[in-house]
Amino acid sequence: MGLIYEKLVRRALFTLDAEHAHELGIDALTVLSALPPLCRLMERWNGLPAATARPVEAFGLKFPNAVGLAAGFDKNATAWPAAAALGFGHVEIGTVTALRQPGNDRPRAFRYPASEAVINRMGFNNHGAEAVARRLARRAGPGQRRIPLGINLGKSKVAPLDQAVADYLVSFNLLAGHADYLVLNVSSPNTPGLRQLQDGDRLRDLLGAVTAANRARATTPGQGRKPLLLKIAPDLNFRQIDAVLETIAEFGLDGIIATNTTLARPGPFATVSEAGGLSGAPLRQRSTEIISYISRATHGRLPIIGVGGIMDAAGAGEKLDAGATLVQLYTGLVYRGPFFAAEIAQALADRQRT
Ligand SMILES: Cc1cc2nc3c(=O)[nH]c(=O)nc-3n(C[C@H](O)[C@H](O)[C@H](O)COP(=O)(O)O)c2cc1C
Repeated sequence: MGLIYEKLVRRALFTLDAEHAHELGIDALTVLSALPPLCRLMERWNGLPAATARPVEAFGLKFPNAVGLAAGFDKNATAWPAAAALGFGHVEIGTVTALRQPGNDRPRAFRYPASEAVINRMGFNNHGAEAVARRLARRAGPGQRRIPLGINLGKSKVAPLDQAVADYLVSFNLLAGHADYLVLNVSSPNTPGLRQLQDGDRLRDLLGAVTAANRARATTPGQGRKPLLLKIAPDLNFRQIDAVLETIAEFGLDGIIATNTTLARPGPFATVSEAGGLSGAPLRQRSTEIISYISRATHGRLPIIGVGGIMDAAGAGEKLDAGATLVQLYTGLVYRGPFFAAEIAQALADRQRT
């Protein structure tokens, strides 16, 4: 299947601008999402037989397999039911911001096929938390879904850094009820100042406020506390990661997602002048290094979702071996096609049995 995609479909898609090709994929999945019988058929085709499945438990949730769809693919929660039917064990939608925003000027996503990489500077283009909440309310909610749905939250571009906490709280309060887990994204390189929220006091303020709001949910009838994770950049050094881990421990976060895209330009990218975050194969090693470091530093106690440059089953296995509980992918889908998640989930299940 993967080979057919690479020889035929990918060749056609790659004649289009990267974002246009992505929009075609999203449109197709959005249409399929409105056709539940077709989604169920896809699920049956792509899902692992119960006997070979490798279910995972993390932060109180059950995942049918370890492979998730990373944030950024389905920013507006239009396509996730069909994306889920591609064989993913979880889907993370977003990044969603409190305010609807257009993102940066196009073109803003670029493929580098020789390196199996993408550079993007989308800038959190999304419909905003209210519209996404309304859309999610029309579908099965937490506890009624076949797989967990994560919601990734970011800062609206117009919100100054010193009002970031209030801005995240707006999205948190609108969306928490629809999420199985939530992610605070402080690591995208394309919103000015966002990564500064990974620093000392700013991170403490953000985590303090959001965990307090989450605790308040726990004592409100009909609500309930949601697992809360932080997504970090691969460009932090180990001293900065130590500080982040200390803050995560202080506020009792449920896990960490490592990593987002990188601003580094390794190897052949040294001469590439396109601004934005680099993902795909060139990110693989750095992301795994960080997962490994976090796992050792936390004695394996903090659940890690490992993401960055998974282009084959070995890449996914490497992340689990480094200490990740779950993995996610995005760029691999661009280069390997829609059956990639099912292939990886099957390979990980086989690996566990042998
Ligand atoms: C086009 C594109 C858009 C992305 N948008 C988001 C986003 O909105 N929020 C986020 O947390 N990560 C975003 N990411 C980062 C991915 O979720 C992931 O962390 C990163 O691409 C590394 O994984 P990969 O090498 O498998 O793509 C985006 C990545 C790409 C390629």
